[in-house]
Amino acid sequence: MKARSTSDRPRPADNTTNGLYGQHILSVRQFTPEVLEYIFGVADEMRTLVERFGSADLLQGQIMANLFYEPSTRTSSSFMAAMQRLGGQVIPINSVKFSSVSKGESLADTVRTLECYADVIVLRHYEVGAAAEAARWAHKPIINAGDGVGEHPTQALLDAYTIRRELGRLDNLTVAMLGDLRFGRTVHSLTRLLLRRGITFRFVSPRLLRMPDEIRQEVTGAGDTFTEHEDVHEIIGEVDVLYVTRVQKERFTDLAEYERVKDSYIITPELLREAKEQMIVMHPLPRVGEITYEVDEDPRAAYFRQMQNGLYIRMALLAAVLGRA
Ligand code: CP
Repeated sequence: MKARSTSDRPRPADNTTNGLYGQHILSVRQFTPEVLEYIFGVADEMRTLVERFGSADLLQGQIMANLFYEPSTRTSSSFMAAMQRLGGQVIPINSVKFSSVSKGESLADTVRTLECYADVIVLRHYEVGAAAEAARWAHKPIINAGDGVGEHPTQALLDAYTIRRELGRLDNLTVAMLGDLRFGRTVHSLTRLLLRRGITFRFVSPRLLRMPDEIRQEVTGAGDTFTEHEDVHEIIGEVDVLYVTRVQKERFTDLAEYERVKDSYIITPELLREAKEQMIVMHPLPRVGEITYEVDEDPRAAYFRQMQNGLYIRMALLAAVLGRA
């Protein structure tokens, strides 16, 4: 969905940004294979730019508002670093309790305020659909940085980029998603992004935290296959990607339920001895014990490289949405 207007600045031809200029980024459903390839290509260029020069002036004169209603370290700071490395500036609202939200200001009015000052708004919110709601009111592009248990599209982009860089392809892989598949917005977005690529999905979780019906139906509707497991040993030997997630205490209304499932899986060097030599372990982070620190030494542990890739992907996305890629 396109923001209603962007600015009076000259518009680039759409073919220079693959149609992303001025677009809201709300869901991975927006990303066609062509758009994905385009973003990955620009991200590669951003990597080179950062490694060689540190920064550039591509987004000089542009301002990004970073509006976070939920805690974040990676998404918030990588978006800020991305904007600043491209010469732009940031309005950081990383804790809305210090903004007029704490006085009862609505999301619609908050967004309409920030767009008076900024060219793009990055929004993390605790409610599913909040980014889409913000986009209803906004004249400037809204980028969904996570909406409750809904989606986290920029995380899925960096996850897919990481898989491609690490394994050389995105097609015909066996991908296991493990942990909190019910509340984990990263696994919802990544599963959707990987549909129609011949992926075999293995969903590993306690019964309470199974992948939602809606996503399972989307997988079968796309003609892809999945199986469900409670025991990670059933699948560890065959997977190309083991995508581990945290059990999210903050999503539970019944803390006794959280206590029952919180330590369901712990990835250790012993477990990885059963895995293929050519595979990767991913995690959106933060982790709270589900991958031991000893695993970090294993070359298959890709989660820190994954986190680094977030910078290049977000630089690419900001440049495209602001028409400067
Ligand atoms: N992966 C991720 O979204 O991390 P943060 O919550 O720290 O942004």
